[in-house]
Amino acid sequence: MLNICTSGVLAATSIQTSSVFWSVTNLIVLGLLSIGNAALWVTYVNWTHSFPQRCSTLQKLRIVHDFFVVLVPVVLVFWLGIAGPGLLFGGSWENLNPWMWGLVGFCSIGLAKLLVQTIRYQLRQSPSTMVVTESRVEEISNRTNSSLVSSGKYQRLARLPGNEQLRVEFNEKTFHLGGLPEELEELTILHISDWHFLGTITKEFFVEVCEIISNDSVDLVCFTGDLIDSQPLTDWIPDTLGKLTGRLGNYFILGNHDWYQEPASIRKAITDLNWVDVSSRTVMLDVDGSRLEIGGDETPWMGEEPKFSTAADFKLLLAHTPDRFSSAKQQRVNLVLSGHNHGGQVQLPIIGPLYSPSRHDTKYASGLFDEPPSMMHVSRGLAGRHPLRIRCLPEVTRITLHGERHSS
Ligand SMILES: [Fe+2]
Repeated sequence: MLNICTSGVLAATSIQTSSVFWSVTNLIVLGLLSIGNAALWVTYVNWTHSFPQRCSTLQKLRIVHDFFVVLVPVVLVFWLGIAGPGLLFGGSWENLNPWMWGLVGFCSIGLAKLLVQTIRYQLRQSPSTMVVTESRVEEISNRTNSSLVSSGKYQRLARLPGNEQLRVEFNEKTFHLGGLPEELEELTILHISDWHFLGTITKEFFVEVCEIISNDSVDLVCFTGDLIDSQPLTDWIPDTLGKLTGRLGNYFILGNHDWYQEPASIRKAITDLNWVDVSSRTVMLDVDGSRLEIGGDETPWMGEEPKFSTAADFKLLLAHTPDRFSSAKQQRVNLVLSGHNHGGQVQLPIIGPLYSPSRHDTKYASGLFDEPPSMMHVSRGLAGRHPLRIRCLPEVTRITLHGERHSS
């Protein structure tokens, strides 16, 4: 009799333990599905932000993202976990109806996409055609006694503990390019991008950065768009961009954030300082007898794709968004300089960047991409409308061109 009672209690305990185990497992699965859902909505934001939409439209699209990122986990817990099949209370997946399976399938696609993205991030390697010869990080606030964050918009974000917005990485990179004319050997390019003058990060930050980079001599200075986020701050241009000089000139294009402001007056403020606006066109330079052609592409927001000449010995394209890479390859552009994606601004451990306003999602968030016949350098930029940087430092890069590297 005692034996029967003991085995009955043991069986009941075992059933209870098994039920708790499956409830916890299902809770974890619902959590993973919620992450998958969020990943798909992030992709939606990245994709929609790659098109020419006004700020107000983009804001509405982001509200849709916020709504579904929050709503779907609640639906998963209440619809699948508590009500319906009651997955959190010992229910079975066999009891899901077709609509529920549809939601699970949607979230699973997002989870699979995140997994692929993570694997790609983990396996990423800089092309052998690039050598980082120097990389130093400078805390710009150490150079001045005044605060570099004002009381402007997003100031709380800028002051968030762990935010690395004021730590700038100064890079020296050497690119080995096949077909580089001898006359362009050791040509140096200062690549700067995405300064986003909004006012929250003060003018002094940009002045200090310019003081650092103006000490190095370069052949070309190239700015790849997104300078102004607040029209009155075009006043800052003479004390910042105006302090930089390339031996063969300074070249620029504008970006989508300049398009939100008054691009014509921004262009005028920069060209008044003898910078060359290469938007929708190309200019040909004679460098010791070699023809270096520089073009600018502000599409899809402004202008049109520049048409390169077949007579050029080397083609350099400034394109605000890396999405223009495929079209640059069709024109056999040798080197594309780009920005726009800011490296994602926040790079998660293991997973990497999430938000990157591109049709290619995070593929071209930042770095060098060697896809013959073209190479593309995507700068993480120096700032952003939202002044937040985590594991993704603001960047200024000085590039030196070399001919193809031969293995010894
Ligand atoms: Fe930008």
